[in-house]
Amino acid sequence: MKLDSLDGLMKPKSVAVVGASATPGKIGYTVIQNLQKDGYKGAVYPINPNATEILGYKVYPNVTSIPEAADAAIITVPAKFCLDVVDECGRKGIKNLIIITSGFSEVGDKELEEKMVETAHKYGSRILGPNIVGICSNSEKFNGSFAPFLPLEGKSSLISQSGALLIAIDASSYIRGVGFDKLISIGNMADIDFADLVTWLDKDENTSCISMYVEGFKDGRTFIEACQKASKPIIALKSGVSAHGAAAAASHTGSLAGAAKVYGAAFQQAGVIQAADLDDLFDRSLALSLQPPMKGENLLVLTNGGGVGVLATDAAEKYGVPLKFAPADVQAELKKHMPEFGSAKNPVDMTGMAGNEWYYATTKFSYAHKWVDGLVVLYCETAMTNPLEIAQSIKKAVDDSGVKGKPVTVSFVGGERSVNAMRWLVDHGIPAYGAPDLAINAIAALREFYKMKEIVNEAPISCEGFQYEQAVEIINKARTEGRDSLTEIEAKQVFSIYGLPVTATELAKTEDEAVALAKKIGFPVVMKIVSPDILHKSDAGGVKVNIKDEAAARDAYQTILKNAKAYKANANIHGIAVQEMAPWGTEVILGSVNDPTFGPTMMFGLGGIFVEVLKDVTFRVAPVSQNQALRMFSEIRGAPILAGVRGEAPRDREALADVICRYSSMIIQLQDEISESDANPVLVYEEGKGVKVVDARIILKKKA
Ligand code: ACO
Repeated sequence: MKLDSLDGLMKPKSVAVVGASATPGKIGYTVIQNLQKDGYKGAVYPINPNATEILGYKVYPNVTSIPEAADAAIITVPAKFCLDVVDECGRKGIKNLIIITSGFSEVGDKELEEKMVETAHKYGSRILGPNIVGICSNSEKFNGSFAPFLPLEGKSSLISQSGALLIAIDASSYIRGVGFDKLISIGNMADIDFADLVTWLDKDENTSCISMYVEGFKDGRTFIEACQKASKPIIALKSGVSAHGAAAAASHTGSLAGAAKVYGAAFQQAGVIQAADLDDLFDRSLALSLQPPMKGENLLVLTNGGGVGVLATDAAEKYGVPLKFAPADVQAELKKHMPEFGSAKNPVDMTGMAGNEWYYATTKFSYAHKWVDGLVVLYCETAMTNPLEIAQSIKKAVDDSGVKGKPVTVSFVGGERSVNAMRWLVDHGIPAYGAPDLAINAIAALREFYKMKEIVNEAPISCEGFQYEQAVEIINKARTEGRDSLTEIEAKQVFSIYGLPVTATELAKTEDEAVALAKKIGFPVVMKIVSPDILHKSDAGGVKVNIKDEAAARDAYQTILKNAKAYKANANIHGIAVQEMAPWGTEVILGSVNDPTFGPTMMFGLGGIFVEVLKDVTFRVAPVSQNQALRMFSEIRGAPILAGVRGEAPRDREALADVICRYSSMIIQLQDEISESDANPVLVYEEGKGVKVVDARIILKKKA
């Protein structure tokens, strides 16, 4: 049966409360009380077998007896009764069930939770929860929760996986002066998940920014897809960032993938802005909900204080929106509104003499100027100025400029009068903060939003044309031999099916074959042991490089065999790989894991100590597009090395990005086969000269 659209959940015209209670202090009483006191205008149907009236509402003995199929039911009966209630609601035609009750999968009873979802879906109904606080909606005056009141009004809507945190956010919205239209508690996400709510909120005329507190997704991919399709800004605070599964990983990449890194990558790809902490979630949500994205990189800062100007300059660098000197014409005009000893460069320091008129004139001019893509106005409270008048001048200047679609944020540093002036600004649509770095951070979020949206929907390369069957054949052969990993030669064959430039590598079973292959490939060559029982070839003395002639090849063949047998007497030796010796290049590592939440995921990092010691790596959920791959290069600390250091030419980043795209397509197409893999090292040559995969490793998924 087609599932309901969630309109009735988020904007119910009537609501049943199953488990409503006449006893103050019970959740079933609080929900009725909240609906009433917070002004819900729809019909309310309390349901309780023993009561006749609660807070003036007529009480019904069961769901069947209420006069209509309410848009939503809020369920507050103990867990053991919930399944029957879900079924009764389904029969009545109630399509949206807000199950507040705890005691399901969070305490190990997954089965009961699944049965409820199955039952609900049978009737086309949806479940929010269970184990939630409920929903608060200012625009509907709907407090369908046991949170004490509706939050301060605002334009963000927040989804929270923690009920207690949602209540805390609700209360602190008033203290912080950051409002929300809706607060949605998502709990166990038995049915409705983040993706469903993002999709709905993106269309909601009362929501301009979607904020979320996330502990973990059930299905990371549907979340990414929903966010990619959304046009509104989305900001997430993710908790629980310790590594998971890393200890059990069989590949290099597996041991480096942690929840924080993979979630961070997924948010990037989804176009979701991250909040560093709870304060940041409030601050950035405020800016994202009130202001448009920052479309270019030119940020101008106006101030009456040198100190806050320098703090803003430092913050601009830190948050990725570094200040540039304003062009001469901008400086010349701004100079008219400051004393001789002011500075019009950027930050524009009007000095402590700045009053309403100068703030008005500089804000109006700067905001309208085509060079300026975003404006931050700073103010330190002085005895000669009135913060509210400064705030009003800034707002009037923005309005009078006649320009729309550019972001502005403000910071007032001062006392109570400044705090009140900032409240006034927020009420009038201009985000204002108590410190300059916060105003910069807020505008940086608007810049980040624009940049992410620019590349988020870029198509990855298609898997069509790759010889999937051929790859599976190689894998199946290994499986029939009882192996759970491919040899280097097999792994390279699979890589090359997907167009990865691997070094020519062939297997020799005899010394003469090794010599013949070396001649065919061309000296110098590398020779390596091929044995499923020897994974760390160098440790076993199983690798010889720079073999220059036939005599050296014969010698290497014998030495490698001898070393391998000494390392592991009963090792199953397939032979010796003879491999083209690739010229030196910058070493990088690529790899893949199957993340439990997001599925096939790519890793990139610089090789050698960068990966071994510094763990300087970054991730993307596959498939990865060319621009996302290029972005990965700038995310690692060793980024300058690829850009070319110490007079070296820049490395071939386009070719490397192409390899990442192909690799990511491979792990998508072979996701039922490949568990983890590494290409390590991959040598990257100077621009135009490509890359070479020198070693390859594929670990197979265990089949039932
Ligand atoms: N139909 C209608 N009413 C029913 C039915 C039914 N089938 N079965 C029971 N009821 C009534 C009961 O008679 C009772 O009403 P009464 O007060 O008139 O007797 C009412 O429903 C509630 O049932 P109780 O047995 O009294 O249960 P109680 O109110 O103590 O607890 C609750 C129920 C709140 C659902 C509880 O089981 C629970 O899950 N609590 C935790 C909820 C929670 O915290 N969720 C959010 C987690 S997030 C966070 O941490 C903040």
